[in-house]
Amino acid sequence: MMMSTDPAHYIEKILPYDMAFRAPGRINLIGEHTDYNGGCCLPAAILPSIYLGISPSSVTLVEALNPGIVTGLSEDHDWLRYIKGAIRHLTERFGSIPPFRMAFGGDLPIGAGLSSSTALCCATMSALNALFDLQITKDELTRLSVIAEQDSGVIGGMMDQISIFNGRKDRALMIHCDTWNFEYIPALLPDYRWLVIDTGVQHRLIDSDYNNRSFACQEIAGILKRNQVVHEFISELTHDDLPLIRNLLSDEQYILVRYVIEENQRVQNFINALRSGSVLDCGELLLASHEGLKNEYRVSCPELDSLVDFARHDARCAGARMMGGGFGGSTLHLVDHSDSVSYLNDIQNYYSLQTGRTARAFEASIGDGLTRIK
Ligand code: GLA
Repeated sequence: MMMSTDPAHYIEKILPYDMAFRAPGRINLIGEHTDYNGGCCLPAAILPSIYLGISPSSVTLVEALNPGIVTGLSEDHDWLRYIKGAIRHLTERFGSIPPFRMAFGGDLPIGAGLSSSTALCCATMSALNALFDLQITKDELTRLSVIAEQDSGVIGGMMDQISIFNGRKDRALMIHCDTWNFEYIPALLPDYRWLVIDTGVQHRLIDSDYNNRSFACQEIAGILKRNQVVHEFISELTHDDLPLIRNLLSDEQYILVRYVIEENQRVQNFINALRSGSVLDCGELLLASHEGLKNEYRVSCPELDSLVDFARHDARCAGARMMGGGFGGSTLHLVDHSDSVSYLNDIQNYYSLQTGRTARAFEASIGDGLTRIK
Protein backbone atom coordinates (compact mmCIF):
# COMPACT_ATOMS: atom_id res chain seq x y z
CA MET A 1 0.00 0.00 0.00
CA MET A 2 1.33 3.49 -0.89
CA MET A 3 2.15 5.62 2.08
CA SER A 4 0.00 8.77 2.15
CA THR A 5 1.98 11.98 2.63
CA ASP A 6 -1.08 13.79 3.94
CA PRO A 7 -1.13 13.95 7.78
CA ALA A 8 -4.94 14.43 7.67
CA HIS A 9 -5.24 10.86 6.37
CA TYR A 10 -3.70 9.50 9.60
CA ILE A 11 -5.27 12.00 11.98
CA GLU A 12 -8.72 11.00 10.73
CA LYS A 13 -7.93 7.34 11.48
CA ILE A 14 -6.65 7.87 15.02
CA LEU A 15 -9.20 10.42 16.25
CA PRO A 16 -11.87 7.76 17.03
CA TYR A 17 -9.51 6.43 19.74
CA ASP A 18 -9.74 7.73 23.34
CA MET A 19 -6.39 9.49 23.07
CA ALA A 20 -4.23 10.57 20.13
CA PHE A 21 -0.62 11.69 19.82
CA ARG A 22 1.79 13.11 17.25
CA ALA A 23 5.51 12.23 17.50
CA PRO A 24 7.74 14.07 15.01
CA GLY A 25 10.85 12.91 13.21
CA ARG A 26 14.05 14.86 13.62
CA ILE A 27 16.84 16.35 11.58
CA ASN A 28 20.27 17.11 12.97
CA LEU A 29 21.81 20.36 11.74
CA ILE A 30 25.31 19.40 12.89
CA GLY A 31 27.08 17.39 15.61
CA GLU A 32 27.00 13.79 14.38
CA HIS A 33 28.17 10.79 16.42
CA THR A 34 28.91 13.15 19.28
CA ASP A 35 25.95 12.27 21.51
CA TYR A 36 27.24 8.92 22.82
CA ASN A 37 30.64 10.61 23.25
CA GLY A 38 29.27 13.20 25.70
CA GLY A 39 29.65 16.02 23.18
CA CYS A 40 27.10 18.41 21.71
CA CYS A 41 24.69 18.24 18.79
CA LEU A 42 22.07 20.49 17.22
CA PRO A 43 18.92 18.54 16.24
CA ALA A 44 15.40 19.83 15.60
CA ALA A 45 11.96 18.19 15.43
CA ILE A 46 10.31 18.32 11.99
CA LEU A 47 6.71 18.36 10.77
CA PRO A 48 6.59 14.85 9.22
CA SER A 49 5.43 12.65 12.09
CA ILE A 50 4.00 9.41 13.38
CA TYR A 51 0.36 9.68 14.51
CA LEU A 52 -0.89 7.24 17.13
CA GLY A 53 -4.29 6.57 18.67
CA ILE A 54 -4.92 4.42 21.78
CA SER A 55 -7.90 3.12 23.79
CA PRO A 56 -8.29 0.57 26.60
CA SER A 57 -9.42 -2.84 25.35
CA SER A 58 -9.98 -6.40 26.53
CA VAL A 59 -7.13 -7.73 24.39
CA THR A 60 -4.02 -5.95 23.11
CA LEU A 61 -4.06 -5.30 19.36
CA VAL A 62 -1.83 -3.00 17.31
CA GLU A 63 -2.77 -1.70 13.87
CA ALA A 64 -0.07 -0.42 11.52
CA LEU A 65 -2.12 1.83 9.24
CA ASN A 66 0.58 1.47 6.68
CA PRO A 67 0.71 -1.25 5.31
CA GLY A 68 -2.60 -2.06 7.02
CA ILE A 69 -1.78 -4.89 9.44
CA VAL A 70 -3.58 -5.67 12.68
CA THR A 71 -1.61 -7.88 15.03
CA GLY A 72 -1.16 -9.03 18.60
CA LEU A 73 2.18 -8.62 20.32
CA SER A 74 3.46 -12.12 19.58
CA GLU A 75 4.11 -11.48 15.86
CA ASP A 76 7.51 -10.58 14.49
CA HIS A 77 7.44 -7.27 12.57
CA ASP A 78 10.38 -4.85 12.65
CA TRP A 79 8.25 -1.98 13.90
CA LEU A 80 6.58 -4.12 16.57
CA ARG A 81 9.98 -4.46 18.28
CA TYR A 82 9.88 -0.77 19.27
CA ILE A 83 6.36 -1.05 20.67
CA LYS A 84 7.24 -4.21 22.59
CA GLY A 85 10.43 -2.54 23.88
CA ALA A 86 8.40 0.39 25.20
CA ILE A 87 5.90 -1.95 26.89
CA ARG A 88 8.64 -4.11 28.43
CA HIS A 89 10.37 -1.12 30.01
CA LEU A 90 7.17 0.34 31.38
CA THR A 91 6.20 -3.07 32.77
CA GLU A 92 9.57 -3.52 34.47
CA ARG A 93 9.25 -0.14 36.07
CA PHE A 94 5.49 0.08 36.82
CA GLY A 95 4.16 -3.49 36.84
CA SER A 96 1.92 -5.00 34.21
CA ILE A 97 0.28 -2.78 31.59
CA PRO A 98 -3.45 -3.51 30.99
CA PRO A 99 -4.53 -4.49 27.45
CA PHE A 100 -5.09 -1.73 24.88
CA ARG A 101 -5.87 -1.18 21.23
CA MET A 102 -3.57 1.09 19.27
CA ALA A 103 -3.25 2.33 15.69
CA PHE A 104 -0.38 4.25 14.20
CA GLY A 105 0.88 5.56 10.86
CA GLY A 106 2.32 8.73 9.43
CA ASP A 107 4.06 10.78 6.80
CA LEU A 108 7.50 10.29 8.35
CA PRO A 109 9.60 8.21 5.92
CA ILE A 110 10.91 4.95 7.41
CA GLY A 111 14.60 4.04 7.19
CA ALA A 112 15.56 7.51 5.99
CA GLY A 113 17.59 8.43 9.06
CA LEU A 114 14.84 10.69 10.43
CA SER A 115 14.28 8.63 13.60
CA SER A 116 10.97 7.03 12.69
CA SER A 117 11.63 4.10 15.06
CA THR A 118 12.41 6.44 17.95
CA ALA A 119 9.28 8.48 17.19
CA LEU A 120 7.22 5.27 17.40
CA CYS A 121 8.86 4.23 20.67
CA CYS A 122 8.38 7.70 22.25
CA ALA A 123 4.76 7.89 21.04
CA THR A 124 3.99 4.45 22.48
CA MET A 125 5.51 5.30 25.87
CA SER A 126 3.66 8.62 26.04
CA ALA A 127 0.37 7.02 25.02
CA LEU A 128 0.60 4.25 27.63
CA ASN A 129 1.70 6.78 30.24
CA ALA A 130 -1.37 8.92 29.58
CA LEU A 131 -3.90 6.10 29.07
CA PHE A 132 -3.00 4.29 32.29
CA ASP A 133 -2.11 7.45 34.24
CA LEU A 134 1.39 6.21 35.08
CA GLN A 135 2.50 9.74 36.06
CA ILE A 136 5.90 9.46 34.38
CA THR A 137 7.62 12.80 33.82
CA LYS A 138 8.91 13.82 30.40
CA ASP A 139 12.53 13.46 31.56
CA GLU A 140 11.90 9.96 32.81
CA LEU A 141 10.06 9.03 29.60
CA THR A 142 13.08 10.31 27.65
CA ARG A 143 15.46 8.12 29.65
CA LEU A 144 13.19 5.07 29.37
CA SER A 145 12.92 5.55 25.59
CA VAL A 146 16.71 5.74 25.27
CA ILE A 147 17.13 2.49 27.23
CA ALA A 148 14.33 0.80 25.26
CA GLU A 149 16.00 1.72 21.98
CA GLN A 150 19.42 0.53 23.17
CA ASP A 151 17.81 -2.76 24.15
CA SER A 152 16.58 -3.15 20.60
CA GLY A 153 20.25 -3.50 19.62
CA VAL A 154 21.50 -0.03 18.63
CA ILE A 155 23.95 1.35 21.19
CA GLY A 156 23.08 4.98 20.39
CA GLY A 157 22.82 8.19 22.34
CA MET A 158 19.94 10.39 23.42
CA MET A 159 19.85 12.99 20.64
CA ASP A 160 16.76 11.61 18.89
CA GLN A 161 14.65 11.15 22.03
CA ILE A 162 15.48 14.59 23.49
CA SER A 163 14.62 16.34 20.24
CA ILE A 164 11.41 14.35 19.69
CA PHE A 165 10.13 15.09 23.20
CA ASN A 166 11.25 18.73 23.38
CA GLY A 167 11.31 20.10 19.83
CA ARG A 168 9.99 23.61 19.28
CA LYS A 169 8.83 25.37 16.11
CA ASP A 170 11.69 27.10 14.25
CA ARG A 171 14.19 26.18 16.99
CA ALA A 172 17.02 23.66 17.13
CA LEU A 173 18.12 22.16 20.43
CA MET A 174 21.74 22.52 21.41
CA ILE A 175 22.11 19.37 23.54
CA HIS A 176 24.97 18.98 25.99
CA CYS A 177 25.05 15.20 25.85
CA ASP A 178 27.19 14.78 28.99
CA THR A 179 24.41 16.24 31.20
CA TRP A 180 21.42 15.85 28.80
CA ASN A 181 20.71 19.58 29.29
CA PHE A 182 19.71 21.58 26.25
CA GLU A 183 19.01 25.11 25.09
CA TYR A 184 16.89 26.39 22.21
CA ILE A 185 18.67 28.05 19.29
CA PRO A 186 16.75 29.89 16.50
CA ALA A 187 17.40 27.80 13.40
CA LEU A 188 16.03 29.90 10.56
CA LEU A 189 18.30 31.68 8.13
CA PRO A 190 16.46 34.35 6.15
CA ASP A 191 15.95 33.27 2.52
CA TYR A 192 17.30 29.75 3.10
CA ARG A 193 15.55 26.42 3.63
CA TRP A 194 16.56 23.06 5.07
CA LEU A 195 15.98 20.31 2.51
CA VAL A 196 16.22 16.61 3.22
CA ILE A 197 17.18 14.27 0.40
CA ASP A 198 16.84 10.57 1.06
CA THR A 199 19.28 8.26 -0.75
CA GLY A 200 16.74 5.43 -0.66
CA VAL A 201 19.52 3.24 0.77
CA GLN A 202 17.79 1.75 3.78
CA HIS A 203 19.57 2.72 6.90
CA ARG A 204 19.25 -0.08 9.45
CA LEU A 205 21.73 0.89 12.13
CA ILE A 206 21.35 -2.48 13.77
CA ASP A 207 22.96 -4.18 10.75
CA SER A 208 25.57 -1.48 10.17
CA ASP A 209 28.93 -0.52 11.66
CA TYR A 210 27.17 1.99 13.92
CA ASN A 211 27.62 -0.12 17.05
CA ASN A 212 31.27 -0.76 16.15
CA ARG A 213 31.94 2.99 16.24
CA SER A 214 30.09 3.26 19.53
CA PHE A 215 32.09 0.34 21.03
CA ALA A 216 35.39 1.71 19.63
CA CYS A 217 34.68 5.04 21.37
CA GLN A 218 33.84 3.28 24.65
CA GLU A 219 37.16 1.49 24.44
CA ILE A 220 39.01 4.75 23.74
CA ALA A 221 37.24 6.48 26.65
CA GLY A 222 38.36 3.56 28.86
CA ILE A 223 42.01 4.07 27.84
CA LEU A 224 41.77 7.83 28.38
CA LYS A 225 40.16 7.33 31.79
CA ARG A 226 42.83 4.85 32.91
CA ASN A 227 45.42 7.42 31.91
CA GLN A 228 43.49 10.10 33.78
CA VAL A 229 43.09 12.26 30.70
CA VAL A 230 39.26 12.35 30.93
CA HIS A 231 36.71 11.65 33.67
CA GLU A 232 34.10 10.05 31.46
CA PHE A 233 33.89 11.11 27.81
CA ILE A 234 36.10 11.70 24.79
CA SER A 235 34.35 15.05 24.34
CA GLU A 236 36.02 16.47 27.42
CA LEU A 237 39.12 16.88 25.22
CA THR A 238 39.92 19.89 23.06
CA HIS A 239 42.20 20.27 20.08
CA ASP A 240 45.04 21.34 22.40
CA ASP A 241 44.93 17.94 24.12
CA LEU A 242 45.65 16.01 20.91
CA PRO A 243 49.47 15.86 21.34
CA LEU A 244 48.91 14.60 24.90
CA ILE A 245 46.90 11.56 23.80
CA ARG A 246 48.69 10.77 20.55
CA ASN A 247 50.84 8.00 22.04
CA LEU A 248 48.06 6.46 24.08
CA LEU A 249 46.03 5.48 21.02
CA SER A 250 46.41 3.55 17.78
CA ASP A 251 46.27 5.58 14.53
CA GLU A 252 42.70 4.49 13.96
CA GLN A 253 41.59 5.43 17.48
CA TYR A 254 43.37 8.77 17.26
CA ILE A 255 41.52 9.67 14.05
CA LEU A 256 38.14 8.87 15.64
CA VAL A 257 38.94 11.07 18.63
CA ARG A 258 40.14 13.92 16.44
CA TYR A 259 36.90 13.76 14.45
CA VAL A 260 34.78 13.93 17.65
CA ILE A 261 36.75 16.92 18.99
CA GLU A 262 36.49 18.76 15.68
CA GLU A 263 32.79 18.00 15.24
CA ASN A 264 32.08 19.38 18.73
CA GLN A 265 33.93 22.55 17.79
CA ARG A 266 31.90 22.74 14.56
CA VAL A 267 28.67 22.72 16.59
CA GLN A 268 29.86 25.77 18.56
CA ASN A 269 30.99 27.52 15.38
CA PHE A 270 27.71 26.68 13.66
CA ILE A 271 25.68 28.25 16.46
CA ASN A 272 27.79 31.41 16.17
CA ALA A 273 27.24 31.42 12.41
CA LEU A 274 23.46 30.98 12.87
CA ARG A 275 23.38 33.83 15.39
CA SER A 276 25.26 36.16 13.08
CA GLY A 277 23.22 34.98 10.07
CA SER A 278 26.32 33.89 8.15
CA VAL A 279 25.01 31.42 5.57
CA LEU A 280 28.48 31.08 4.07
CA ASP A 281 30.01 29.89 7.36
CA CYS A 282 27.07 27.54 8.02
CA GLY A 283 27.54 26.00 4.58
CA GLU A 284 31.27 25.50 5.03
CA LEU A 285 30.74 23.85 8.41
CA LEU A 286 28.17 21.44 6.95
CA LEU A 287 30.61 20.42 4.21
CA ALA A 288 33.46 20.04 6.72
CA SER A 289 31.24 17.85 8.89
CA HIS A 290 30.51 15.61 5.92
CA GLU A 291 34.22 15.31 5.08
CA GLY A 292 34.94 14.23 8.67
CA LEU A 293 32.11 11.68 8.66
CA LYS A 294 33.24 10.31 5.30
CA ASN A 295 37.02 10.20 5.68
CA GLU A 296 37.68 10.05 9.41
CA TYR A 297 34.69 8.56 11.18
CA ARG A 298 33.92 6.51 8.04
CA VAL A 299 30.14 6.23 8.30
CA SER A 300 29.14 7.58 4.89
CA CYS A 301 28.41 5.61 1.70
CA PRO A 302 28.76 6.39 -2.05
CA GLU A 303 25.10 7.44 -2.39
CA LEU A 304 25.34 9.99 0.45
CA ASP A 305 28.64 11.25 -0.99
CA SER A 306 27.09 11.66 -4.44
CA LEU A 307 24.34 13.97 -3.09
CA VAL A 308 26.87 16.03 -1.12
CA ASP A 309 29.21 16.24 -4.14
CA PHE A 310 26.37 17.78 -6.17
CA ALA A 311 25.71 20.28 -3.38
CA ARG A 312 29.38 21.25 -3.09
CA HIS A 313 29.49 22.38 -6.72
CA ASP A 314 26.11 24.10 -6.89
CA ALA A 315 25.80 27.81 -6.04
CA ARG A 316 22.14 27.44 -4.98
CA CYS A 317 23.24 25.35 -2.01
CA ALA A 318 25.32 26.85 0.83
CA GLY A 319 26.35 23.41 2.09
CA ALA A 320 25.18 19.87 2.78
CA ARG A 321 26.12 16.78 4.73
CA MET A 322 24.99 13.29 5.55
CA MET A 323 22.74 13.19 8.56
CA GLY A 324 22.15 10.72 11.40
CA GLY A 325 23.90 7.41 11.93
CA GLY A 326 25.02 7.05 8.29
CA PHE A 327 25.49 4.00 6.02
CA GLY A 328 22.47 5.21 4.03
CA GLY A 329 19.55 7.42 4.99
CA SER A 330 19.41 11.12 4.16
CA THR A 331 21.45 14.22 3.51
CA LEU A 332 20.62 17.72 4.74
CA HIS A 333 21.01 20.70 2.38
CA LEU A 334 20.89 24.43 3.13
CA VAL A 335 19.40 25.89 -0.04
CA ASP A 336 18.45 29.37 -1.25
CA HIS A 337 14.66 29.56 -0.89
CA SER A 338 14.03 31.08 -4.31
CA ASP A 339 15.93 28.21 -6.00
CA SER A 340 14.77 25.27 -3.92
CA VAL A 341 12.36 23.79 -6.50
CA SER A 342 14.88 23.85 -9.35
CA TYR A 343 17.61 22.60 -7.00
CA LEU A 344 15.54 19.59 -5.95
CA ASN A 345 14.69 18.79 -9.53
CA ASP A 346 18.32 18.96 -10.67
CA ILE A 347 19.79 17.00 -7.77
CA GLN A 348 17.19 14.24 -8.17
CA ASN A 349 18.06 13.92 -11.87
CA TYR A 350 21.78 13.95 -11.11
CA TYR A 351 21.35 11.30 -8.42
CA SER A 352 19.42 8.91 -10.61
CA LEU A 353 22.01 9.27 -13.40
CA GLN A 354 24.85 8.64 -10.95
CA THR A 355 23.35 5.77 -8.99
CA GLY A 356 20.31 4.45 -10.85
CA ARG A 357 18.26 5.15 -7.76
CA THR A 358 15.41 7.53 -6.99
CA ALA A 359 15.91 10.11 -4.25
CA ARG A 360 12.87 11.25 -2.23
CA ALA A 361 13.13 14.86 -1.14
CA PHE A 362 11.23 17.33 1.02
CA GLU A 363 11.57 20.60 2.87
CA ALA A 364 12.24 19.94 6.53
CA SER A 365 10.12 22.56 8.30
CA ILE A 366 11.07 22.67 11.97
CA GLY A 367 8.07 21.98 14.19
CA ASP A 368 7.05 21.21 17.76
CA GLY A 369 7.99 18.07 19.67
CA LEU A 370 5.69 15.25 20.78
CA THR A 371 2.14 16.49 21.41
CA ARG A 372 -1.11 15.01 22.55
CA ILE A 373 -3.73 15.94 19.99
CA LYS A 374 -6.72 14.40 21.77
C1 GLA B 1 21.59 7.79 15.24
C2 GLA B 1 21.46 7.61 16.74
C3 GLA B 1 21.76 8.92 17.48
C4 GLA B 1 23.10 9.51 17.04
C5 GLA B 1 23.18 9.56 15.51
C6 GLA B 1 24.54 10.00 15.05
O1 GLA B 1 20.61 8.65 14.76
O2 GLA B 1 20.15 7.18 17.06
O3 GLA B 1 21.74 8.70 18.88
O4 GLA B 1 24.16 8.78 17.58
O5 GLA B 1 22.89 8.31 14.92
O6 GLA B 1 24.80 11.31 15.41
